[in-house]
Amino acid sequence: MNNFQFQNPTKLIFGKGQIEKIAREIPKSARVMMTYGGGSIKKNGVYDQVKTALKEHNVIEFAGIEPNPKYETLISAVALAKCEKIDFLLAVGGGSVIDGTKFIALAMNYDGENLWDIVINPKIASNINPAPFGTVLTLPATGSEMNCGAVISKIETSEKYAIHHEHNFPRFSVLDPEVCYSLPERQLKNGIIDTYVHVMEQYLTYPANAMVQDRFCEGILLTLLEIAPKIMADNKNYDLMANFMMSATMGLNGFPSMGVPQDWATHMIGHELTALHSLDHAMTLAIVAPYLYDVMRDEKRGKLLQYGERIFNITEGTEQEKIDKAILSTREFFESLGVNCSLSANGVTKESIETIVNRFAVRKAKLGENSTITAEIVKQILDKAF
Ligand code: NZQ
Ligand code: ZN
Repeated sequence: MNNFQFQNPTKLIFGKGQIEKIAREIPKSARVMMTYGGGSIKKNGVYDQVKTALKEHNVIEFAGIEPNPKYETLISAVALAKCEKIDFLLAVGGGSVIDGTKFIALAMNYDGENLWDIVINPKIASNINPAPFGTVLTLPATGSEMNCGAVISKIETSEKYAIHHEHNFPRFSVLDPEVCYSLPERQLKNGIIDTYVHVMEQYLTYPANAMVQDRFCEGILLTLLEIAPKIMADNKNYDLMANFMMSATMGLNGFPSMGVPQDWATHMIGHELTALHSLDHAMTLAIVAPYLYDVMRDEKRGKLLQYGERIFNITEGTEQEKIDKAILSTREFFESLGVNCSLSANGVTKESIETIVNRFAVRKAKLGENSTITAEIVKQILDKAF
């Protein structure tokens, strides 16, 4: 196991009817800006619950943070927050609203002229003291409710980048499984796949003698495999949604990654596919991940065998046959949720593959747990996925 430091300050408030608790978590004197997306919270009653809870607070609203939150939208929110002298943010929504709010929390306390610098220059971001914020999560998927990452897109240049800031964690996050009952099938499968691949990025690398972390990851993967078909058949079951929410939050809050190598190449490649083709984040992962495991099978050999045996009971055959089965079982799981794991079937062209490979070449990318996934390897993965 590698040396590590771990700190996660986010307070989780979990369960039925818990949105009302936010009133106690936000100082009475705060000038609050509530951020949300395209209006799902107005249809499912979450908006009313938040407004009722904050009836004694001074609250303004910023609506319209879209999926894959756009820099171009967020800068308007920053201007509003500055103008209204906001000192606490409340994100009510999925990963996009939370990520967008993390950007606002940084940008409203930044005096530089070009706010995009916060996204592309980690040094600039690290010198900012972000504004405090809390979240009411409505879509289990990204783990953003309990981590310090955010992924921001710029439409002008078709770019999408992740930013991390060690102090940009939510102060609190409310996880009420009942708010998930209104999730459409598309977002349910997105959430399940995103969570699954988050765990894989931290688990499917090389053995690091981290027995607790491995079993923790395997616990989440097995839970997802068990609950996924049930959730797709019945999206109003409290216990299923509670376990789904726990899986997603625990999948990317720093617990699985303590002291172990991490990959994240599937995500880096996926972000390019979303930036260029507007594919849902989780769809890009479902397409790329199995081909990445295939191309990187030698480096991931030990963990692929462990994964196959512990998750899918694959014990028969040669090592290569077992690895083939483990990868196929992964793809079959994604396909069982209705994903077509092929780039061409999802509208991606050969020209886009070239653009993506060029982008990684210009950045001199060396992705993956061993920094061996170069632009050339990205090309092999995307060609196979085509
Ligand atoms: O905008 P509204 O109207 O709220 O509708 C949203 C949106 O259209 C809807 N939705 C959310 N909760 C709902 C609901 N509809 C009905 N009932 C509910 N309870 O779902 C749609 C998608 O929402 P979005 O927030 O975009 O989805 P998700 O949570 O999957 O977030 C995706 C974004 O997170 C980033 C992705 O790249 C992408 O930009 N990620 C963030 C990470 C992080 N911060 O750590 C890690 C992830 O790997 C990921 O990259
Ligand atoms: Zn993800």
